[in-house]
Amino acid sequence: MFEHVEAYAGDPILSLMDDFRQDPRKAKVNLSIGFYYDHNGDIPVLDSVIAAKALLDQQPVEPNLYLPMSGEPQYCQAVQQHIFGEQPTAVTDRLITIQSVGGSGALRVGADFLKRYYPDAKVYVSHPTWDNHQAIFAGAGFEVLGYPYLNQDQTDIDFSAMLKTFAHLSEHSIVLLHACCHNPTGLDLEPSQWDQLFALFKEKQIIPFLDSAYLGLGDGLEQDAYAIRALAQSGLTGFVSNSFSKVFSLYGERVGSLSVICESAAIAEKVSGQLKATIRANYSNPPRFGAQLVRIILENEALYQQWLQEVENMLKRLLQVRSDLYQAIHKIAPDLDVGYLLKQKGMFSFTGLTAVQVDEIREKYGVYLIRNGRICIAGLNSGNIQIVAQAIAEVATQQLVEAAI
Ligand code: LMR
Repeated sequence: MFEHVEAYAGDPILSLMDDFRQDPRKAKVNLSIGFYYDHNGDIPVLDSVIAAKALLDQQPVEPNLYLPMSGEPQYCQAVQQHIFGEQPTAVTDRLITIQSVGGSGALRVGADFLKRYYPDAKVYVSHPTWDNHQAIFAGAGFEVLGYPYLNQDQTDIDFSAMLKTFAHLSEHSIVLLHACCHNPTGLDLEPSQWDQLFALFKEKQIIPFLDSAYLGLGDGLEQDAYAIRALAQSGLTGFVSNSFSKVFSLYGERVGSLSVICESAAIAEKVSGQLKATIRANYSNPPRFGAQLVRIILENEALYQQWLQEVENMLKRLLQVRSDLYQAIHKIAPDLDVGYLLKQKGMFSFTGLTAVQVDEIREKYGVYLIRNGRICIAGLNSGNIQIVAQAIAEVATQQLVEAAI
């Protein structure tokens, strides 16, 4: 019956994590998947989350019913407020937020909804992007194409190439963008560039879909939320998917949200209904536990402040290890330009290493990074930074020497 089923080639990120687990070497280093690790190399349980759980435990045990299709209303309300900040009622009236199964679930519900109403639209993702963007939208039946993101030597965003591409898209094309902490490059647009982009999208009737899984880990929450809040004010119809996996360190709970900014409250009402229909046909309704923890924190001022501080501490550590890795590589190979480490933001850095170099680093040093050259900065700590610096310096210097020959 299933003889024609082909072997799964594996996922570029999740399967690498399996390979890492199976690697018997003691000194191996995992810089592949986007987990935030603390300075001891542990995935933290946040104090605000522990406190929220204690509060939840004090509440009387209730029957464990299904949540509504679009999730717990108070969670959705609190998340909307957190992500979009203070918005005039003219905006909130036409803004819908639903609970989703992580960021991927939000993307998929948005993609399925869009496919129903714009079946012939094409979806454009940045080149490069997070691999699952392509998989999710292709899985919903869309043709997925790339738009240029980086300049020739991969050191910066090629904004004019982006604009040029978007200027030629047909009406109702869907453009997926990273709200902040671009994965994998760590390079984000400036506020003025976002404004320019949204003005163009309005003129061309393009549908923006902002994905955000790292709010607070780039330049801090307010700056990182700029694109989302500007989109809400822009008069465009647009989508915002959001994941709380990293910033609450709640990966396994699959806590996320999908927001849609509509033209009017009446349209928002109908879109909200059709999102429910999409959810019902996918997984019926989302899980409760993780969303309850997040809601408690977002609704409780003291816990919210504590959590914001914890996210800020994560951000500070990311900046510190970026600088430490920069110094360590610079010491070993002063001629190597690794300024990208300091320029890029968020949990990832895009090293520019080729798949062959990445394989070499993995085999020789037991250092795991994604084959597109992405490293998860958060996996670095004082115990492994030297070996990583040594590995990167060695292969990148070889490349310099080869280029000179
Ligand atoms: C990543 O980019 O490593 C994370 O978002 C985890 C994942 O699901 O790929």
